[in-house]
Amino acid sequence: MTTFDVPARVREGAITPISDLDRYREVCARAVHDPDAFWLDVAHQRLAWRKAPTVGLDGSFRTIKDGPLSWFSDGVLNVSESCLDQHLDARGDKVAILWEGDEPGDVRRLTYRELHAEVCKTANALAKLGLQKGERAIIYMGMVPEAAIAMLACARLGAIHSVVFGGFSADALRDRIRDCGAEIVITQDVGLRGGRHIPLKATTDEACAGSPSIQKVLVYKRTDVEVAWTEGRDVWWHEVVDGESPTHEAVPVEAEHPLFVLYTSGSTGRPKGLVHTAGGYLAYTSYTHATVFDLREDDVYACMADVGWITGHSYIVYGPLANGATTFMFESVPTYPDAGRYWDMVARHGVTIFYTAPTAIRALAALGDEHVKKHDRSTLRVLGTVGEPINPEAWRWYYDVVGEGRCNIVDTWWQTETGGVAISPIAPATPTKPGSATLPMPGIFPSLRTPEGDVLRGPAEGLLCLDHPWPGQARTVWGDHERFVSTYFAMVPGAYFTGDGCRRDADGYYWITGRVDDVINVSGHRMGTAEFESAIVSVEEVAEAAVVGFPHPIKGQGVYAYVVAQPRSEIDPKALDAACRAQIGAHAKIDRVQVVPGLPKTRSGKVMRRILRKIAEGRADELGDVSTLADPGVVDAIRDGYRAE
Ligand code: WTA
Repeated sequence: MTTFDVPARVREGAITPISDLDRYREVCARAVHDPDAFWLDVAHQRLAWRKAPTVGLDGSFRTIKDGPLSWFSDGVLNVSESCLDQHLDARGDKVAILWEGDEPGDVRRLTYRELHAEVCKTANALAKLGLQKGERAIIYMGMVPEAAIAMLACARLGAIHSVVFGGFSADALRDRIRDCGAEIVITQDVGLRGGRHIPLKATTDEACAGSPSIQKVLVYKRTDVEVAWTEGRDVWWHEVVDGESPTHEAVPVEAEHPLFVLYTSGSTGRPKGLVHTAGGYLAYTSYTHATVFDLREDDVYACMADVGWITGHSYIVYGPLANGATTFMFESVPTYPDAGRYWDMVARHGVTIFYTAPTAIRALAALGDEHVKKHDRSTLRVLGTVGEPINPEAWRWYYDVVGEGRCNIVDTWWQTETGGVAISPIAPATPTKPGSATLPMPGIFPSLRTPEGDVLRGPAEGLLCLDHPWPGQARTVWGDHERFVSTYFAMVPGAYFTGDGCRRDADGYYWITGRVDDVINVSGHRMGTAEFESAIVSVEEVAEAAVVGFPHPIKGQGVYAYVVAQPRSEIDPKALDAACRAQIGAHAKIDRVQVVPGLPKTRSGKVMRRILRKIAEGRADELGDVSTLADPGVVDAIRDGYRAE
């Protein structure tokens, strides 16, 4: 068996749990005083290194234009050994993945020993299919344990995975395959969600048709549904994985070796492939998972996200498994077969930590307390939210009704870019205020700034930046470091700009107000208005389009499309929806369409989105100065055509 390099100071327990606010302040002070020493302690304590690092940060936000910064650059490890092998002695028989399928009671339990064996078998099979260190594999699956197994098997080989959410269309999948130059797609016949079939293999076939780089498609068989088959390219998971050896010599990689690429939407252009690296990402997700949720050995930890998003990566798979936790995976939706599904599972599995999105909380609150109250929730201890601002009413419902006024609520703010939680209560330590993400994690240094980049002190509202690097942050955009720099580091030289607005109150608590760029957050799904616009203008009858978000009572934000028709053409909203579905995915739905005679533009031709946002929000009386517009009359026409619903 592999022996790991354990630096002496780990055994001194340099990092202890944060159980109260004084201790939180002490740990923060250590991280301010010497960030390198702090994060090296975290990395040494939490991960299984082949060669433990001696170096902390190299580079800075000022030098990032010259190339990515690095953490733990002389460390060597394999992520799957930290997530599996390091637990085999003490936790071999502990459940690692507890899975519940679409139908209630369809349950699988994989212990650490079993998960280790499955990952080894899959790594052996993937190696035979030709996957090598540094090569990319796309994972396009539903919420089955095999999705996590595939991720860990890639990591074991030092290959780079890119998980694509199962709701994305063939076009979106093809874009991602091409962008990262993947040679293999790992998928399944169909996904199951709320009694419906998601045709994952058929969509993969369509995406691969225009993707010459793809050599192999590995297909996990979830159902008995027949799927089309391309001989020579397609292989069944059970045929190549099941017979493999349950041991595999993990491939050691440098700490800065990419672990995965995850595509996310931004203000402009196509989604960016953010690159996360092995050592820093795993140290950060492990530390934040254990700290924020106050993780204990016998916890049953349940995060309801999908592995296709960063929350699934960091807090279903990597953080929890690095911590030897029992992590839950859920294939279905919160309302199947009824609105009590979450709480029924909490009762049956004895869930102690529960983590979901505000959208789900609002949707379930609207369906009535009885669905919650009829299930025993006495095991719950910590309740988390993520993905969008939580309104105080939803927070209170979560606290009072779901948590019976007894659980700690952690409103965790973070992003695909941050890798893990950056601002959040620490469950046992931080006094909460409904709607506030409260205080930064140790080692995270937020600042609020003016659009000119000036730092605002004390209570203030401004643009949220993070001023010092942390190990979990994305290092670059796959194949386009310049885009990484111009997106995040151009606005405020020397600081990372998050794209979020934020208020800080007199107690130093942070209140995220939402995106200040052209990203919209619909039901916790992050989408770019530019992606919608490009899909909409591909419809023949459309001349121009502008898309903005507007407040939506359940989804957080809805999608509002202003559309200009071609001369003598009629706009069919169904055609617009179909285009978004085809080019983005099933989750990209337009909530409202307004056909307008023109878009408000400056004399230089720039669309004034600020005006469109105000009108969509029903705040046309706050438009302010429109005199710089090329044609101010357009605004009156748009305002007159607006109908509140
Ligand atoms: C938003 C999801 C308020 C925010 C982990 C951020 C939040 C974007 C919160 C990132 C929160 C996430 N309160 N807003 N607790 N958590 N957001 O990349 O606008 O899918 O920039 O990562 O979600 O979305 P992403």
